[in-house]
Amino acid sequence: MKLSDTPAWRALTAHAEALRPRHLRDLFAADPQRFENFSLRHDGLLLDFSKQRVSGETLALLRQAAAAADLDGWKARMLAGEPINHSEGRAVRHMALRAGDQAPPEVRAVLGRLQRFCDSIHGGRWRGYSGERITDIVNIGIGGSDLGPRMAVKALAAWQQPDIEVHFVANVDSADIAPLLARLNPRTTLFIVASKTFTTLETLTNARTARDWLVAAAGDADAVARHFVALSTNRDATWEFGIAAENVFEFWDWVGGRFSLWSAIGLAIALAVGWRHFEQLLAGARSMDAHFLAAPAAENLPLTLALLTLWNTDFLGAGTHAVLPYSQSLALLPAYLQQLEMESNGKQTGRDGEPLGVATCPVLWGEAGTNGQHSFYQLFHQGGQTIPCDFIALREADFPLAGHHAKLLANCLAQSAALAFGQTRAEVEAAGVPPALVPFKLFPGNQPSTTLVLPRLTPYTLGQLLALYEHKVFCLGVLWHLNSFDQWGVELGKQLASRLTPLLEGTGDAAEFDASTRGLLAALKTP
Ligand code: F6P
Repeated sequence: MKLSDTPAWRALTAHAEALRPRHLRDLFAADPQRFENFSLRHDGLLLDFSKQRVSGETLALLRQAAAAADLDGWKARMLAGEPINHSEGRAVRHMALRAGDQAPPEVRAVLGRLQRFCDSIHGGRWRGYSGERITDIVNIGIGGSDLGPRMAVKALAAWQQPDIEVHFVANVDSADIAPLLARLNPRTTLFIVASKTFTTLETLTNARTARDWLVAAAGDADAVARHFVALSTNRDATWEFGIAAENVFEFWDWVGGRFSLWSAIGLAIALAVGWRHFEQLLAGARSMDAHFLAAPAAENLPLTLALLTLWNTDFLGAGTHAVLPYSQSLALLPAYLQQLEMESNGKQTGRDGEPLGVATCPVLWGEAGTNGQHSFYQLFHQGGQTIPCDFIALREADFPLAGHHAKLLANCLAQSAALAFGQTRAEVEAAGVPPALVPFKLFPGNQPSTTLVLPRLTPYTLGQLLALYEHKVFCLGVLWHLNSFDQWGVELGKQLASRLTPLLEGTGDAAEFDASTRGLLAALKTP
């Protein structure tokens, strides 16, 4: 099906033309209640989308598009465990991981084992090969087996358990693991090998290096049992690697990697902040799940975020989307969302195998405020491109210190206002700016943004926030008629890398490769 030919799409295209001349200044001037009319509240969260270039009619048309795409039907199919990830024949059930009492028995069983494991580490009952307690945890994983836990551990730094430090290694570049091992003590270090498939090149390479390092220090391969645990769906491979069966925490093929931090993959989070706080993270996500499933379209936060991205991407021509947390603790949120959104929806083939013919996932990027202001915001303000922004603000600081938080929040509000309303020639001239400088001081404004306000950054609100974006991704996949849960686009590079590795290691024939690759191979091999 060609999406652009559907009635909903045609209506939105015509409406976008009609709305185009209306600046955000006009939209605000026309409606003194615009903030109230274009913001939503749910369970302590506030979503202000009044600074998006939308009218009431825009939202009505977008909601019609969601209904026409059968959003409710897709939600029901996901909930019923149908294999909506059809190209891999898998169900999509990450909500079951955080369903509390309603979670399936196998989920509750693994959560119980994880809790006991965490308690034994925190209580000092789990000992390394020398009899000392564990002080350092290293999560070895990549993509969904790294980004979520890494981001959440940083986000929840204010909740960090004493006497334990959690580290992350992802890159196959030895510059990631080598400096870390150089400062760790093998007697007190525990490695988590996190890999859904347990076949990922980066993770297995780093895990083997860590195992060699440990065994060399211990002088005994049996030490692996005291220092390695695995998080995986592939029990056989964990066994082959040498990890004791009782040290394997499993999850299931119905958990997508980028949706997996709620599963055993979250072990590093639980070790960093304690089990009780990990449970609160799950509870926050559960609250957002209930809202997403039950709230009508006009009140539904994830759907609203999705509709705004659809509008900005396909009808206002925005090719990127900036996520700007005014929270240093959320500094890794953009990196996490890059995988969540772009690996899910960065596709041009529809569910039916036909080309979609419309723009899909915008390039997501971002940086913690205020740092980005002193870097790339210049382009937001005067670069001439439409760049929708998500501002994220915390009412209370997670590390309160006199003289900081009001300045942080003031900057967040200042930026979204400056981006929306800009600065006109009349305003610049009225400020007495010398005529020669006037053109440089003009700010066109009309830059769309949403501001999400969290009361505080806690395990619970982080859970809400992450589930909000997960469901946004799901809605967009439905609206674009694509499968958000496969990732075939990562395969070709992996296959080529496996053929190139022997060539870089000195064996094999490069003839099958193109001239550029052959030239680069030669350059990289020649001292
Ligand atoms: O290469 C992409 C990918 O498959 C992601 O989808 C996944 O999160 C990541 O690799 C890591 O995979 P695994 O957990 O199986 O090691």
